[in-house]
Amino acid sequence: MKIAIIGSGGREHALAYQLNKSDKVTKIYCIPGNAGTEKISKNIQLDLENFNELYNFFEKENIELVVVGPEKPLVEGIVDYLEAKKIKVFGPKKKVAQLEGSKIFTKKICKEFKIPTANFKICNNEKETLKYLLSSNFPLVVKADGLAAGKGVFICKTFDESKNAVKEIFNGKFGKANEVLIEEFLDGDEMSFFIISDGKSYKTFNTAQDHKRVGEGDTGKNTGGMGAYSPSSLINKDLEYKILKKIIEPTLHAIDKMGEEYVGFLYAGLMIKNNEPFLIEYNVRMGDPECQTILPLVKNDLFEIIYSCCNSSLKKQEINWKNQKSMCIVLCSKGYPDKYEKNVEISNLDINQNLKDKFIFHAGTKSYNNKIMAIGGRVLNFVKLSESYLICREEIINEINKLNWKKGFFRSDIGYKVIDE
Ligand code: AMP
Ligand code: GLY
Repeated sequence: MKIAIIGSGGREHALAYQLNKSDKVTKIYCIPGNAGTEKISKNIQLDLENFNELYNFFEKENIELVVVGPEKPLVEGIVDYLEAKKIKVFGPKKKVAQLEGSKIFTKKICKEFKIPTANFKICNNEKETLKYLLSSNFPLVVKADGLAAGKGVFICKTFDESKNAVKEIFNGKFGKANEVLIEEFLDGDEMSFFIISDGKSYKTFNTAQDHKRVGEGDTGKNTGGMGAYSPSSLINKDLEYKILKKIIEPTLHAIDKMGEEYVGFLYAGLMIKNNEPFLIEYNVRMGDPECQTILPLVKNDLFEIIYSCCNSSLKKQEINWKNQKSMCIVLCSKGYPDKYEKNVEISNLDINQNLKDKFIFHAGTKSYNNKIMAIGGRVLNFVKLSESYLICREEIINEINKLNWKKGFFRSDIGYKVIDE
């Protein structure tokens, strides 16, 4: 079968790599892909906002399955569009993609179905919001409703900080805003929890911890993710049961009551406090870099798992996991997440080094005249599977040092909570 993957990050290279191992996959197109996906699939430049252009391409090439990596096309309704034209797509439809596309949509579900989450208030204009904030306790969290590429969340220690955040949101920094979300600040440990669903049944799809801050010790600016490890050390049978019964199943029930179904990966960003889970946010896709750590742990054919979700037959599909630890460290362009140089060559990169338990998944790379150029902030994902996080980290750092890319930097403390403390 010919398939297409939408996206260009490390998550999509990891998806392409796993799907390419299946006997059932004859050809993969990555739209637009990167220098890593180019080695195992065909990269195609198409306008991701133009669903008709995408459809014409899929039809011409007889593509039978489309796997969507990032949230934006999902929130914009790519699944509804392609399915109406009889192309199978792995991902949720527009209405349920609001679980990520609108934080207020998710909060309303939490309230109605008693899903544990931070207490919150939805405010409709600046004046009302500031009045509410004047009588609030700090710290608290101010959030823009819609997609904001991870930038629409403000943890505020003082009224003045929250006032600035509210002004930015209502001034349209993250798109037109009619509402703002004010949340209680939750203290605890964060965990990324995944399920995969075919609309009728679901299976858990492992856990991970990511490190979002740019600096060592989780300091400095927020990024797309500097590294991750899987499984999370926080997970245990009791906690998993609570997450499923108190968060995941009520959410799927809410979707069912809307007359909708959820197909795809669902990523719950959780805060864990005294072994109790609270939902911080939903993402309607795999995490990045969590995906790069989780997929190499899957023993089964990933294509069969994903395809079963498009045929409502996930229930019969086994998902078995390697009993290993997996870690990813992201090599970034110096300056990220602020300004960094683009089109910088990365030499000495052995493109064929994806082995059994050691992988390099590309993100912001492009090949040009047989050279590999860095074109993004997050450039390469170094992944290692082993029996301990310490070994994973040491081997990855060794690999990154061997590459000796002078224009890059990385965090050498990924996993410090499970290794060093
Ligand atoms: P979100 O985009 O909603 O995941 O928020 C980004 C980050 O902000 C999360 O990963 C948390 O670290 C933090 N955050 C969001 N909401 C809260 C909250 N209510 N309490 C504490 N931290 C939060
Ligand atoms: N690693 C965080 C995310 O994918 O949103």
